Amino acid sequence: MKQITTSQELRSYRDTCTGSVGFVPTMGALHEGHISLVKKSVAENDTTIVSIFVNPTQFLPGEDLDAYPRKIAADIKICELAGVDCLFMPTTDAVYTREEPAICAPKIKGYILEGYHRPGHFDGVLQVVLKLLNLTRPTRAYFGKKDAQQLYLIQNMVRTLFLTTEIVPCDIVREKDGLALSSRNVYLSPEERERALLLSKSLKRATKMIIEGERDAEKIKTQMRKILSPTAIEYIEIVDRDFNRLDEIEIDNTIILVAAKVGTTRLIDNMWV
Ligand code: PAF
Repeated sequence: MKQITTSQELRSYRDTCTGSVGFVPTMGALHEGHISLVKKSVAENDTTIVSIFVNPTQFLPGEDLDAYPRKIAADIKICELAGVDCLFMPTTDAVYTREEPAICAPKIKGYILEGYHRPGHFDGVLQVVLKLLNLTRPTRAYFGKKDAQQLYLIQNMVRTLFLTTEIVPCDIVREKDGLALSSRNVYLSPEERERALLLSKSLKRATKMIIEGERDAEKIKTQMRKILSPTAIEYIEIVDRDFNRLDEIEIDNTIILVAAKVGTTRLIDNMWV
């Protein structure tokens, strides 16, 4: 596996690739969720490039940029074992200059839900993803459905800026008890981890209500709010796949989203219905 730290090296490496290129951008501290994206890319492409970069522009002041888990030695091993061809691990200076053109997320869809609670977060995500897509020029790029709004905004960017990469959405990976995998789960104490299960429990309850025929979004949200009451709820929302708010569930076109703080840890989860 080739390990690269500068954008020039990455461009040169990309020029040597023949056939399809799969790309998996990450912020490291890799878990089974990331590994599932990497495996899918390795299975579907001639070459797989993974990036590990804790992107400072997507963290707000006061967020966990400095504390964000970093375990680079383990990450390298994981990528090697998963069959990654090239691992890009740039420093901040290798990605950003002092004079950056502003990349702004769409004014509505980039500033509701996650974007409302983390204003500017998606500007930073789109900025770094655009840079990484330009450097890797992938045939396919792999993103988890756990960050559903991020996935939507990236798909939207690719479509509206006429990029040629195919964005491949990948299913959420969960622990046996339902907890969605996240690099931030390491922040949870055993007691908090127990409470964190309420996110997936509330989504399971919502799914059960829908299976039983409920279509009223407000009624579903009320039940979810009850289940989530021991957490500090940030939002419970039901949207269509383009992130328009729904009053009625539309089967095969709905995402149920939840964000809540457990202790000081902010968690998100969602269910595609
Ligand atoms: O989802 C993430 O880990 C990050 O937001 C991404 C897409 C790697 C951009 O920094």
